[in-house]
Amino acid sequence: MSTAAAPAIVGSAVPQPYRVVSRRVDTADTVTIELAHDAGPLPAFAPGQFAMLTAYGIGEVPISLSGLPDPGDDRARRLTHTLRAVGAVTRALHATAPGATIGVRGPFGTSWDVESAAGQDVVIVAGGIGLAPVRPVLHAVLAGRARYGNVVLLVGARTPADLLYPGELLRWAASGVQLGVTVDRPADGWSGHVGVVPALIPHARFDPAHSVAFVCGPEVMMRFTAQALIERGLPASRLRVSLERNMRCGVGWCGHCQLGPLLLCRDGPVVDYARAEPLMSIREL
Ligand SMILES: Cc1cc2nc3c(=O)[nH]c(=O)nc-3n(C[C@H](O)[C@H](O)[C@H](O)COP(=O)(O)OP(=O)(O)OC[C@H]3O[C@@H](n4cnc5c(N)ncnc54)[C@H](O)[C@@H]3O)c2cc1C
Ligand code: FES
Repeated sequence: MSTAAAPAIVGSAVPQPYRVVSRRVDTADTVTIELAHDAGPLPAFAPGQFAMLTAYGIGEVPISLSGLPDPGDDRARRLTHTLRAVGAVTRALHATAPGATIGVRGPFGTSWDVESAAGQDVVIVAGGIGLAPVRPVLHAVLAGRARYGNVVLLVGARTPADLLYPGELLRWAASGVQLGVTVDRPADGWSGHVGVVPALIPHARFDPAHSVAFVCGPEVMMRFTAQALIERGLPASRLRVSLERNMRCGVGWCGHCQLGPLLLCRDGPVVDYARAEPLMSIREL
């Protein structure tokens, strides 16, 4: 099984103007913004793909899609992104107010290929801001719930205050998603798990022989998560990770995103673990 191939290069060279139509503060350093096109929509994005977002006058960064557009209405080509302020560009995008315009190029990269998990149990494991790129997987699975088996969502965050989408986590759990949440550092009143997210895997209910796993987070977390899933019996070929490297062009021209033989803007960010594992274990790469 492989991840879906990147589509033809369209809307890739010149940032298109998109207006910020909503901005929700998720945590102290993270917001979710919804964008509407001013000059005509870019081609549809699939879960797992990313856009290059421009804060005019400051710079451009890769940011994954974090939500699915509403199907069938004029909002269908709106884009949802969740971004954490870590440096100059993400801080500027984080501070952009509704009504202001930012530039968007894309869609870029491979998708999670959610469809290929039909008929299987679905295991989603996310660490920190890594919950943003896998959120559309959950939206897609819940929109076609009857077509999938057990759905497991395991989430890790630094502290309870850093947990993304807490309201949605509760709604997903109420709708039958097996939810496991853990934090590195508990706060007063926290009665949940404390520790790393791979520690939740032995307790999750899924059939490893009939499951597909979607994993996103810091690279060390993805390695230990993959190891725990493989120990449960899940084949590496049915485990996907989303890999991040510096991105510039987004279309396989500049080489900035190289990981061994892969250009992650084109061959990733979503990569089968069977292909990613040998590359992730080489420190120099
Ligand atoms: C395919 C892809 C998808 C991404 N999706 C998202 C997303 O959905 N939401 C989101 O918030 N971020 C996402 N990122 C990360 C985001 O692109 C970076 O945080 C951003 O490029 C930092 O740019 P900056 O100018 O704000 O900060 P910089 O000045 O470039 O960096 C500031 C600090 O952050 C560190 N940093 C930079 N990039 C990363 C990174 N990828 N991970 C951890 N630390 C980093 C730097 O080492 C530095 O210490 C994604 C990255 C890739 C490659
Ligand atoms: S970002 Fe230029 S080759 Fe990937």
